[in-house]
Amino acid sequence: MSSATVDKCICHRRKFSDINKYCHNHDISTVEKLQDEGICSTGCGLCIPYIRMMLKTGRTAFKPGESFKEKSEST
Ligand code: FES
Repeated sequence: MSSATVDKCICHRRKFSDINKYCHNHDISTVEKLQDEGICSTGCGLCIPYIRMMLKTGRTAFKPGESFKEKSEST
């Protein structure tokens, strides 16, 4: 299947896998801290729910729209 994969912060041109490594190396566990350090998520903000899922699950690739599904299931 050729559907798109969400695996990067487009605005910062950083892959989630690289951001995940950075988090491990710098003991970061929140999106806010990543934003403070200018690593990701300070542009359009579309990656924020995916970064949150990454921090929670360790996954670095998602289906488009998966963050919305997660939200509605976790209520
Ligand atoms: S894709 Fe991450 S801020 Fe725009």
